[in-house]
Amino acid sequence: MNTKIAGVGYYVPEKIVTNNDLKQYMDTTDEWIQERTGIKERRHAEKHKETTTTMATEAAKKAIENAGISKEDIDFIIFATISPDYYFPGCGVLLQRELGITNTSIGALDIRNQCSGFIYALSVADKFVKTGTYKNILVVGSEMHSMGLDYSTRGRGVSVIFGDGAGAVILQPTADESKGILTTHLHSDGTYAEELSLINPGCHGGHYDDDKEKYGYVSPEVPGEIFVTQAMLDNHLLYPYMNGQLVFKNAIVRFKEVIMEALEATQLKPEDLDMFIPHQANLRISQYIQKTMGLSDDQVFNNIQKYGNTTAASIPIALAEACGEGKVKDGDLVCLAAFGSGFTWGSALIRW
Ligand code: ACO
Repeated sequence: MNTKIAGVGYYVPEKIVTNNDLKQYMDTTDEWIQERTGIKERRHAEKHKETTTTMATEAAKKAIENAGISKEDIDFIIFATISPDYYFPGCGVLLQRELGITNTSIGALDIRNQCSGFIYALSVADKFVKTGTYKNILVVGSEMHSMGLDYSTRGRGVSVIFGDGAGAVILQPTADESKGILTTHLHSDGTYAEELSLINPGCHGGHYDDDKEKYGYVSPEVPGEIFVTQAMLDNHLLYPYMNGQLVFKNAIVRFKEVIMEALEATQLKPEDLDMFIPHQANLRISQYIQKTMGLSDDQVFNNIQKYGNTTAASIPIALAEACGEGKVKDGDLVCLAAFGSGFTWGSALIRW
């Protein structure tokens, strides 16, 4: 028994924010952003109306329709995001409610693996399907980054990169073992956990930092008051931090390693790939991998130019868009790979 992707769908908010639009909030230029990242524009969700879950719901509806099933057929939900509606409960149950799934015999799992969240979700779902546990798993990646980034000049190194959107797939069993997910590979290395992170609000109380004071000192005798402090607000610590150059250096090594791992596990070669869909981290990272792996332009799909980096949503959005454009066809060998915060990274090889 193998696992096939039976349906795909994506949703991006209507509002387009160009690089030039960002200039009204921060000191930046279209040239700087395009040269460093390849991004021309991104989408921003409508505040107070759209959320990570509502976007996921739209993507999920399309994937369900594309698979030719109904929402009642879904027997498990896996939701990957780093920008959830609530700290808890996770978006999985919110998506179940938004879709109007009242069947309580299903489960909903939330995955917090940042840019590789969708690959982790896919890998977990694959095991559930292969073991015969579930027959219609809804896997979603969705992010609403625009709600919480620093759009002043102080935060420009991060905020220009990220965009909002959602992608979804339906996974089903297939008796044809030459088709579907052939292999998945997951990795992690916590050494650089804080080098690409959003650590506040949080329960750490400065534990990993010599300068504990900057998070706000609270007497150990007093319960509570450490999760979110006035000092976090005053010191602008409620935003993500990224050591861009360290991320770049690690990403280009790990991406290649994990793609080769998937190819070697299946005795295949880069030239066998019909389509490589990388996590849309940065166009320069994708281009570097393409070049070092000797892949042609026809073998790689990028859409970061239009949507920016949508973290866990980027692969399912790109996959759905590539399918919609007829760039992924029956029998094609498709490789998905991601690298991101954690650091975590992973790959999946699929015979379509
Ligand atoms: N507009 C204009 N200037 C900017 C901007 C901006 N948006 N952001 C930063 N700058 C300035 C900096 O302040 C700095 O100015 P200074 O020299 O006066 O101090 C200068 O540009 C260079 O800044 P760096 O951070 O050194 O720029 P770098 O060349 O490293 O590019 C980038 C930054 C694009 C993030 C790069 O490091 C990179 O591509 N890293 C990979 C990380 C990545 O792509 N992450 C994506 C998300 S994580 C993931 O999905 C895996």
